[in-house]
Amino acid sequence: MDWSAVVLVVLLLLEPSPCASDDRLDLGKPLSPGTTIVSDDGGFALGFFTPTNSTSTPAKLYLGIWYNDIPTLTVVWVANRETPATNTTSSTPTLSLTNTSNLVLSDASGVVLWATNVTAVSGSSSPAAAAAMLLNTGNLVIRSPNGTAIWQSFDHPADSFLPGMKIRLAFATRAGVRLVSWKAPGDPSPGTFSYGIDAGTALQLFLWNGTRPLMRDGPWTGYSIASRYQANASVFVYQAIVSTDEEIYLTYTLSDGAARARFVVTVAGRYQLQSWKGGGSSAWSVLGDWPAWECSRYGHCGPYGYCDNTVAAPTCRCLDGFEPADAEEWSGGDFSRGCQRKEALRCAAGDGFLALPGMKSPDKFVRVANRTRDECAAECAGNCSCVAYAYANLSTTTTAGDVTRCLVWAGDLIDTEKMGDVVGSDTLYLRLAGLDAAVQGVRGKSNALRIALPTVLTTSILIITGIFVSWFKFRGKRRSNKEYNTKVSLVTTSSSDVLVEGSPAQDFELPFIKFEDIETATHNFSEAYKIGQGGFGKVYKAMLGGQEVAIKRLSKDSEQGTEEFRNEAILIAKLQHRNLVRLLGCSVEGGEKILVYEYLPNRSLDAILFDSSRKTSLDWPTRFNIIKGVARGLLYLHQDSRLTIVHRDLKAANVLLDADMRPKIADFGMARIFNDNQKNANTRRVVGTYGYMAPEYAMEGVFSVKSDVYSFGVLILELVTGTKRSSFNTIKGFPNLMIYAWNMWKDGKGKDLVDPSIMDTCSQDEVLLCSHMALLCAQENPNDRPFMSSVVLALENGSTTLPTPKNPGHYAQGSSDMEQIRDRIDNSMNSLTLTNIEGR
Ligand SMILES: *[C@@H]1O[C@H](CO)[C@@H](O)[C@H](O)[C@H]1NC(C)=O
Ligand SMILES: *[C@@H]1O[C@H](CO)[C@@H](O)[C@H](O)[C@H]1NC(C)=O
Ligand SMILES: *[C@@H]1O[C@H](CO)[C@@H](O)[C@H](O)[C@H]1NC(C)=O
Ligand SMILES: *[C@@H]1O[C@H](CO)[C@@H](O)[C@H](O)[C@H]1NC(C)=O
Ligand SMILES: *[C@@H]1O[C@H](CO)[C@@H](O)[C@H](O)[C@H]1NC(C)=O
Ligand SMILES: *[C@@H]1O[C@H](CO)[C@@H](O)[C@H](O)[C@H]1NC(C)=O
Ligand SMILES: *[C@@H]1O[C@H](CO)[C@@H](O)[C@H](O)[C@H]1NC(C)=O
Ligand SMILES: *[C@@H]1O[C@H](CO)[C@@H](O)[C@H](O)[C@H]1NC(C)=O
Ligand SMILES: *[C@@H]1O[C@H](CO)[C@@H](O)[C@H](O)[C@H]1NC(C)=O
Ligand SMILES: *[C@@H]1O[C@H](CO)[C@@H](O)[C@H](O)[C@H]1NC(C)=O
Repeated sequence: MDWSAVVLVVLLLLEPSPCASDDRLDLGKPLSPGTTIVSDDGGFALGFFTPTNSTSTPAKLYLGIWYNDIPTLTVVWVANRETPATNTTSSTPTLSLTNTSNLVLSDASGVVLWATNVTAVSGSSSPAAAAAMLLNTGNLVIRSPNGTAIWQSFDHPADSFLPGMKIRLAFATRAGVRLVSWKAPGDPSPGTFSYGIDAGTALQLFLWNGTRPLMRDGPWTGYSIASRYQANASVFVYQAIVSTDEEIYLTYTLSDGAARARFVVTVAGRYQLQSWKGGGSSAWSVLGDWPAWECSRYGHCGPYGYCDNTVAAPTCRCLDGFEPADAEEWSGGDFSRGCQRKEALRCAAGDGFLALPGMKSPDKFVRVANRTRDECAAECAGNCSCVAYAYANLSTTTTAGDVTRCLVWAGDLIDTEKMGDVVGSDTLYLRLAGLDAAVQGVRGKSNALRIALPTVLTTSILIITGIFVSWFKFRGKRRSNKEYNTKVSLVTTSSSDVLVEGSPAQDFELPFIKFEDIETATHNFSEAYKIGQGGFGKVYKAMLGGQEVAIKRLSKDSEQGTEEFRNEAILIAKLQHRNLVRLLGCSVEGGEKILVYEYLPNRSLDAILFDSSRKTSLDWPTRFNIIKGVARGLLYLHQDSRLTIVHRDLKAANVLLDADMRPKIADFGMARIFNDNQKNANTRRVVGTYGYMAPEYAMEGVFSVKSDVYSFGVLILELVTGTKRSSFNTIKGFPNLMIYAWNMWKDGKGKDLVDPSIMDTCSQDEVLLCSHMALLCAQENPNDRPFMSSVVLALENGSTTLPTPKNPGHYAQGSSDMEQIRDRIDNSMNSLTLTNIEGR
């Protein structure tokens, strides 16, 4: 018997984490110069450093966090920005964790240079068990014995904004955090430049130089698009602003496998998105640099001027009805005096409002609470001092609160910008003389409605829960990135995050392939090459153009007509995202309709997940990644493609897995394009799969993005439990998976839902988050279900507080072996009944 092995096992059992020694700081084990604490995955290090290029002697020592896997010292957080230690042998500083659960940095003589301000933990819990840990995100966290984070460096940022960090502003106190630049490249002490949410409005983001604004984001318009593609680095940046009852914050995450990236306020006063280019070019590259143009600097175009960034060379212009205040200065490139009215306002008689779509609204507005669109217009029309208004309905979630955003302007309009018809732009209604009543926006002259200025700021506090995007950071990229709209060709083998965003797709070409080439490749559609049979035809695997492809031959008798086929081909080809199966080409010869897709070696999720011998290859981290990947793909279909695409048949069989088990959504050929303002559609034909279909779709043929959200909820549950949504047998006595999960959840046994075969790899928090999300997605009322933007955000960040789910929607299935229905609803109606599950 080898006793050392037994001792080792015992030690491992006692030790909560096998790598506990180097990513944490424990009581009584201080950190001193020369040693570091490294995050579990080796990505970040905490320790003492002297800034590169620092010239002072003796050298100054700072406690900070930097990228451990990047050769160039890049510090993302500094504790003692203003109180450096010196690097002499006589005064070695140390960082220690105290018995009050605080981190204290002190020099050799005991002088405290920096300390956290955690108030002593009261109660029975033993502070001795607290520990400071450096997480893989680069966040230094002090955890209390029960695992609660009682302090974290992410709440005290320096100049860097890392993925997962939150730039907050509390509504009640108007206190928040800002990114603050270094003073100089070798000096981490706070510089004059900062970035954060404007405490006055709680609606805008600013870059400041001291107290002077350098750049401003337009007021939030309520759109919930949450991702942008940085073609330069093949990375998606999922950026969101979340507003809860207490606070509003900006956060972001990056797509899987993205290189290191950070937003940073530079010593020169720029706000940049930087990315580390691995491999050959070992350097930080700048993916975004703001303010993007001269004229997008704050107030650059003067009062009533605006920066037109819809043109190749953005420049200042005067708003409609205005002309340069000083034509000579203006034409000489000095826009500071701005523009003046061509015709003075006459107030009540003859003024009207001109609608200017696609604008970033000006600064210095007053927000009037609780107004409908009409009331907002009347608010402005009824007050002669009001020169403009803008309205938005912030409602992106179903949570109650003031979802209105009525902004009115009484003074000069400054820092306006024309963005064009991009999501996130406002329509600005500008008061002008001499507009007749036919002009949009003219309202009655109700004097009853007043703008109560002194109370507005306090009552207009945004109390909503929602997600929206800080848009301005990206909109400047739209034009410059056009050249990255990679044309798909059959020889494209890159698996990067290629994305062709909505409008630029017109210069996109879908390759048409000769039917005979396909015949040759599949040996005349030999059974030996067949890999599957989908609803619309057979699928073959073949080599084409030197590449493995999946060939989908639509059966000639399929209901899918030529038009539907064309829809599917064009849609799929335009929509490109790493979590969507790529269409590489198509063929439409002699009545044959053929689609050529990328081939995915691990085929479909259901083949692995529901196979008892293979399901263990999907451990929990893999499943969680599949859930997140499908969520991102769906978000893209719903929102980011700027077309609203409803999948209508999302299920495990339509999720394919690549070689790295990353998910790709397949078969969105049934999807339909909506107009922007058309939220729901009625269809005569239901195309979907029992058990995954939302009740309103199965029963009434009404589908919307929310019916996909329902299907996604079912899919999550299948991944968590490893169980099919409805088997021939009941699930633990319940008629289907949804009802089973709902009952387990209600009984507080959500964590027991997890597939027993992956118990050892699972994170309880993640399992609970996923089960909770699944039940929210599957709620009966479509309006209660979250949008995919909220889903992605919650899954990425984990910490968002989620509402309590209501009853799931479901319907009993007439015949359990009827998997696919492609009938008209009328034919199947009598076999369906809607069942409510009442809470006990
Ligand atoms: C402190 O100075 C010593 C030599 O004086 C040097 O070897 C060491 O790297 C310095 N430490 C830091 C953190 O700069
Ligand atoms: C905490 O440490 C201080 C000195 O470092 C000591 O005086 C105090 O008794 C300690 N408190 C506890 C509860 O251990
Ligand atoms: C701790 O609190 C004191 C007083 O409230 C404050 O001056 C100091 O800056 C705080 N330190 C940190 C690291 O927050
Ligand atoms: C964990 O401990 C902290 C104080 O250390 C306490 O505020 C919190 O409520 C505890 N949380 C749980 C879940 O016990
Ligand atoms: C340090 O100085 C060198 C030479 O002046 C310069 O090339 C380099 O960019 C500087 N590094 C930093 C981090 O400022
Ligand atoms: C920031 O403000 C200072 C002082 O007001 C000024 O000298 C400097 O040029 C400004 N920098 C930028 C980038 O605006
Ligand atoms: C993208 O890459 C090009 C060439 O490498 C570079 O010049 C540019 O600054 C990068 N950033 C953006 C935002 O285009
Ligand atoms: C908004 O109006 C509703 C109904 O008129 C009222 O119940 C609510 O309190 C108002 N909210 C605010 C913030 O004024
Ligand atoms: C905002 O939009 C939601 C959903 O589109 C709608 O239900 C609500 O009535 C709108 N609110 C206002 C004040 O227009
Ligand atoms: C009109 O608006 C101005 C500025 O917002 C305000 O000071 C004034 O009281 C308002 N007048 C009326 C009649 O509401």
